[in-house]
Amino acid sequence: MTRNELIAANLAWWDERAALHAGSAFYRVDELINGESALDSFEIEELPNEVGNSLLHLQCHIGTDTISWARRGFQVTGVDFSAPALAQARRIAQACGITATWSVSDVYNAPDVLGRQFDVVYTGKGALTWLDDLRSWAQVVNQLLNPGGYLYLVEFHPITWILPEDNWTIANDYFTDGQPYIETDPGGSYAAPDEVTHSNITAEWQHTVGEIISCIAGAGLTIEWFHEYDYTHFAQNSLLERSSNGRRYRLPRGMPRLPLLYSLRARKPG
Ligand SMILES: C[S@@+](CC[C@H](N)C(=O)[O-])C[C@H]1O[C@@H](n2cnc3c(N)ncnc32)[C@H](O)[C@@H]1O
Repeated sequence: MTRNELIAANLAWWDERAALHAGSAFYRVDELINGESALDSFEIEELPNEVGNSLLHLQCHIGTDTISWARRGFQVTGVDFSAPALAQARRIAQACGITATWSVSDVYNAPDVLGRQFDVVYTGKGALTWLDDLRSWAQVVNQLLNPGGYLYLVEFHPITWILPEDNWTIANDYFTDGQPYIETDPGGSYAAPDEVTHSNITAEWQHTVGEIISCIAGAGLTIEWFHEYDYTHFAQNSLLERSSNGRRYRLPRGMPRLPLLYSLRARKPG
């Protein structure tokens, strides 16, 4: 498959799942409408609203995190290449009484499509793996930031790619050669596993910690810190135990702990 065909397959995959995800228990849309935040408490601590006013959420999907940032006081803009995802985001924001701007764009075209800069660029869990060119992504982030603005990145830790889904022995290479992992899913998704879907091919690109950090620094941003967490936000593996509030998943006590999520904050020189 050509790159365009892979991206088109990914877009079809996400388009078909937007409404399914908006109706899924995973995305907790009713709870969001009732005032719950989609953000983890560590995200709220790591990005206080004193850092700026305007926040751009790249790959915002159905907008649950974007809306939660708006509730923290930011003026939010959400970008995604899936128009059906943004249709759901618009509907959910209205139900939440939140004002937001939603813009359909591929990440790489976002500076041209938006034509402006922001105090914060946020990108959240499950985003980078859909991008084949992290160097261009980091340059896009740099272009989208006001001088002195912040990149805030929260992602699943790449260490988890080397482990299979059913038992955590090392199964896959950590290092990659830049080729995509092309998969044909049985159907559904992480949020809607029992749904019947027709667009089931995905192409994902894994990125090592070294590549992520080097691309961000290489684009001219100053990295302030990189944090790692021993919990994650979905049942990535059958061993993981769900916390009592249903938001975090950890390895059982007694098992060696691994980093499952990370966050990073970087600043554009002022
Ligand atoms: C797992 S979601 C991440 C968002 C958020 N953490 C969440 O779970 O709601 C990934 C999003 O990336 C979007 N996406 C994938 N490739 C993209 C691209 N090249 N440009 C813009 N959006 C893209 C998809 O449409 C999807 O909404």
